[in-house]
Amino acid sequence: MEIIHISAECYPVAKAGGLGDVVGALPKYQNRIGHIAKVVMPMYRTKFLYNNDWELVHEGGTYLGSNWFRYAVIKEKSNKLGFDLYLVDINGLLDREQVYGYDDDTERFVSFQIAVLDWLNSWQHKPDVIHCHDHHTGLIPFMMKYCYGYQSLATIRTIITIHNAQYQGWMGWEKSHYIPWYDDWKTGLLDWGGSINPLASAIKCADRVTTVSPSYLEELMNSANGLENLFEFERGKCFGILNGIDNEVWDPETDTYLVSNYNAETVEAGKEENKEHICRQFNLDPQWPLFIFIGRLVGEKAAEILPDVIGNGVERHEGRINFLVLGSGHKHLEAELLRLEAIVGKNFSCYIGYNEELAHRLYAAADFLLMPSLVEPCGLNQMYALRYGTVPMVRNTGGLRDTVIDIANVDGKGYGLIFNHAEAWDVLSSIDRAMGWYFEQPGILDGARKKMMAIDNSWENSAHHYISIYQ
Ligand code: GLC
Repeated sequence: MEIIHISAECYPVAKAGGLGDVVGALPKYQNRIGHIAKVVMPMYRTKFLYNNDWELVHEGGTYLGSNWFRYAVIKEKSNKLGFDLYLVDINGLLDREQVYGYDDDTERFVSFQIAVLDWLNSWQHKPDVIHCHDHHTGLIPFMMKYCYGYQSLATIRTIITIHNAQYQGWMGWEKSHYIPWYDDWKTGLLDWGGSINPLASAIKCADRVTTVSPSYLEELMNSANGLENLFEFERGKCFGILNGIDNEVWDPETDTYLVSNYNAETVEAGKEENKEHICRQFNLDPQWPLFIFIGRLVGEKAAEILPDVIGNGVERHEGRINFLVLGSGHKHLEAELLRLEAIVGKNFSCYIGYNEELAHRLYAAADFLLMPSLVEPCGLNQMYALRYGTVPMVRNTGGLRDTVIDIANVDGKGYGLIFNHAEAWDVLSSIDRAMGWYFEQPGILDGARKKMMAIDNSWENSAHHYISIYQ
């Protein structure tokens, strides 16, 4: 089968979050099991662009509303990611340093989608499946079916994977002329609640809809930022498929970022060395347990409770505890964390920003990973933590619920810590549990590490699952 993934992100080309990780891995595994999977994404100004060789495969021009624009499609020459990678270059619109966050993001991503379809329309043969990811590519199923200019694409199957339904790409109806000439009778398929809603449109128009975990799909029926009824109505074509992780990129035995590599047999010594190194770098005392948070500092991840958790945690455990935060997001929160670091710097350090290498080192060094997320469609960090023998402490939601079993689980299968509320007091009481084990029952933690590292969350399973849905 030939599958074209269309996405705003793809690791290592450009990544803002987990979406990038998924699109950077899934196609590779689909190719390995005998299919042809390709990725098409915008050409941003990223390091990857400048450090690799490209060939021009197509040049074209089309309209966004009444504005004519030219675009080019380039392909990475060496297939180094394990799949064909195509970048769409639209001068002045896509070629920027960041993936998102510009005032004209609507124009940028609508133009991208139109350029992709204009290009696909010119292909001699047709792929079997167009696989869209999140709202940035959400208008594609509608346009393929109902825009007069793309009729040659109308019979290709489409699927949308929802990595996060909080963001829907809303645009006012005054921008409807951006969408190439379409069947007026189908206008309702673009609308939700009075505006053009690309994510809602994709849910209505795609042949299949998937979410990145089964529990998240269930939750969306009750809480989907306004789309609850739509999910309920379309549930027959919706499936929850848990993401995998790229076991080659995330392997403590071969990870070149680590100061000391280890496997399940050598985990204790290996983690200790990594921890010592990180503690030295961040001025923390390695004899105390290390709790980390890695992620965007935003409401969805419940990041605003972190200062409270850290401040109270240090006080209540009388300084016999370490916290480290790696992330960026709301400016006020970044400032608050830096202020806190100035006060309790012996026990807490933060790195404001994005740093892939440091993330790898932290998973290896930490004892516990905190994920109090309010919303977590899948969550990859807890799976990285498992692979590196770091105990995940997660809220009972979405993909976290599907991937972590509490240590207290009666069958003795557990290895993580689960709490119910995205509130400081609940996280703190889980930290109390964790501290008890760390100091008094280290055997429990050692056992958990072995169990965690034996779990297989690789892409193989999920890659097959997607293929059966395409079929
Ligand atoms: C989004 C979600 C996250 C998920 C990721 C990859 O970033 O917030 O939970 O793991 O997409 O699907």
